[in-house]
Amino acid sequence: MENPPTVRTASADPGPQTAAGKVLWHFTVSLDGFVAGPGHAMDWMTGLSFRPGLVEEYAGTTGAVLGGRDGWDAFPDAGGIYGGAWQGPVFVLTHHPEDVRPAPGVTFLNCDAAEAVRIALTAADGKNVEVLSPTIGRQLLERGLIDEIDLHIAPVLLGDGIRLFDNPGGVPVRLELLNGDDRTATLDVRCRPVTADAG
Ligand SMILES: NC(=O)c1ccc[n+]([C@@H]2O[C@H](COP(=O)([O-])OP(=O)(O)OC[C@H]3O[C@@H](n4cnc5c(N)ncnc54)[C@H](OP(=O)(O)O)[C@@H]3O)[C@@H](O)[C@H]2O)c1
Repeated sequence: MENPPTVRTASADPGPQTAAGKVLWHFTVSLDGFVAGPGHAMDWMTGLSFRPGLVEEYAGTTGAVLGGRDGWDAFPDAGGIYGGAWQGPVFVLTHHPEDVRPAPGVTFLNCDAAEAVRIALTAADGKNVEVLSPTIGRQLLERGLIDEIDLHIAPVLLGDGIRLFDNPGGVPVRLELLNGDDRTATLDVRCRPVTADAG
């Protein structure tokens, strides 16, 4: 007897994000899993197009941002989050807050990542906390404190830089897909090098 065909109902569109006091690990990521190039380079994102309304959607649902010292030192501009469309409390984790330059709206914390996320959730006042750091996201994932991972996958290969999830020797972390109603569906992507004959 033949096996019945598997019904796949994954969708490329996860639907709009909602403000519900969630902890989101939110990134634009290269096809090979990097969120930044070497030296925190972000120029690879130039020219990408995002779905309409995406910036407004996340600016409207985010209540606080939690980041790490390296990202802050590379881009020390809280007013530039979502191109300036979002204003709110920003928390930066660092082991040496004594040598940071104070910035309006930014609180530098030296504490466990779980404590930092508690502080950020209180400040977010019912909206979401965006964790804009791979290293802090990994710490929170280990503690079961990431509610959702929101990724915008860019058709670019970086090959080097800062990975979304860098955990050599670790075990696979199983996720369930929130797009569509098949939680285990793979997502199909088809692309080609831009130097190829577009035919
Ligand atoms: N693609 C995208 O959508 C996107 C969005 C946002 C950011 N990014 C990129 O993400 C990158 C962030 O880099 P990253 O994750 O390697 O660095 P990061 O998280 O920004 O910084 C790591 C540093 O944060 C501090 N830290 C982390 N956990 C801590 C804890 N529990 N307690 C105290 N301090 C703690 C430590 O700094 P110290 O020990 O030195 O204090 C650690 O070395 C940046 O390049 C940024 O541009 C990409």
